[in-house]
Amino acid sequence: MPNIAIIGATGAVGDVFLRVAEERNFPVGDLKLLATARSAGKTLKFKNKNIIVEEVSKASLENSDIVFCSATSEASKEWGPLIREMGSVMIDDGSAFRMDRTVPLVVPEVNAADLSWHEGIISIPNCTTTPLALALHSMRSISEPIKVTASTYQAVTGSGTAAVLELTGQLEALTQEKVIPQPTVYPQQIAMNVLPQVDEFDEGNYTKEELKMRNETRKILHLPDLPITATCVRVPTMIGHAETIHVEFQESVDLQEIFSTLSRQEGISISESPHEYPTPLTAEGNDLTHIGRLRRDETVEDNKGIVFWCVSDNLRKGAATNALQIAEELLKRNLLRGNNA
Ligand SMILES: NC(=O)c1ccc[n+]([C@@H]2O[C@H](COP(=O)([O-])OP(=O)(O)OC[C@H]3O[C@@H](n4cnc5c(N)ncnc54)[C@H](OP(=O)(O)O)[C@@H]3O)[C@@H](O)[C@H]2O)c1
Repeated sequence: MPNIAIIGATGAVGDVFLRVAEERNFPVGDLKLLATARSAGKTLKFKNKNIIVEEVSKASLENSDIVFCSATSEASKEWGPLIREMGSVMIDDGSAFRMDRTVPLVVPEVNAADLSWHEGIISIPNCTTTPLALALHSMRSISEPIKVTASTYQAVTGSGTAAVLELTGQLEALTQEKVIPQPTVYPQQIAMNVLPQVDEFDEGNYTKEELKMRNETRKILHLPDLPITATCVRVPTMIGHAETIHVEFQESVDLQEIFSTLSRQEGISISESPHEYPTPLTAEGNDLTHIGRLRRDETVEDNKGIVFWCVSDNLRKGAATNALQIAEELLKRNLLRGNNA
């Protein structure tokens, strides 16, 4: 069984990661739970065993076959090259290596074959990219997408534990009619509000999150020129990112055919009736990309456009589950590099 280390085990994703690994009965030899000095000495449970969190260090990573990194870009950049050098594999939840040409960016249902060329670092996509890539991949069997427009409605767990505390603190102050504490995670109050900014602003006045959706979707689908535009919005929900996605296809498409293809896709659940729809609460705690409100985009001529709503749990399929699925594929395909593979 592979020896495993988790950098960022005490975070929002780390916590879910341990539960999903238990649920999936993921094979684990030695397990190291790692974080910063802030959390060293804390105790976390895995399969009813108490494990003490250690500060990440070279020594703490030495015996690992797979290192799951769910921390910060700085941590990924600091430890990734060393993990690669030591002959193990880092599966990284962060954005540090996603666009690196030597690093596969993988949603297993879409492009597991890309794992064959990994050199020791594998990235998972941003949590809004994963459901988008999965849905587009499924529909490519009918016609190639030639333009994609997405708007997102992203939960606060997407920004980690500190953001959850910020939202709950603001809600508590509001209900007790106290002064709302100054936000530190988001640029403005998130309680009773929506913010059309996820991550920092970048080129062309898009945010980094919007550019991640564009660039990562292109890389996963091997469609480097696919026009994609996104507006990413933070909303005061806890778990589950929602998206409205408009797709224009090369050819005219039949809505029923799109429905049938999506309903056959592994990892997707689609509402039977056009008047039933999933919400973030539908997605919370499971690994499916839930799709609903599938209809024509009437701004596109010749029946070439569709629009739909989709929701998925950002901490599970958007992070922990996708990383574990990648590890399962590595084991199945015999693609680990360490001693216990
Ligand atoms: N949240 C999501 O929905 C989501 C989805 C996809 C990908 N991701 C990515 O997953 C990563 C973790 O996100 P999160 O939401 O779990 O964040 P989080 O709740 O803020 O947790 C961060 C974790 O990383 C640890 N950490 C921070 N700096 C570190 C360092 N320099 N060295 C080692 N450990 C360090 C923290 O340890 P301490 O306890 O010691 O502070 C904590 O365990 C990020 O890269 C994020 O982009 C998140």
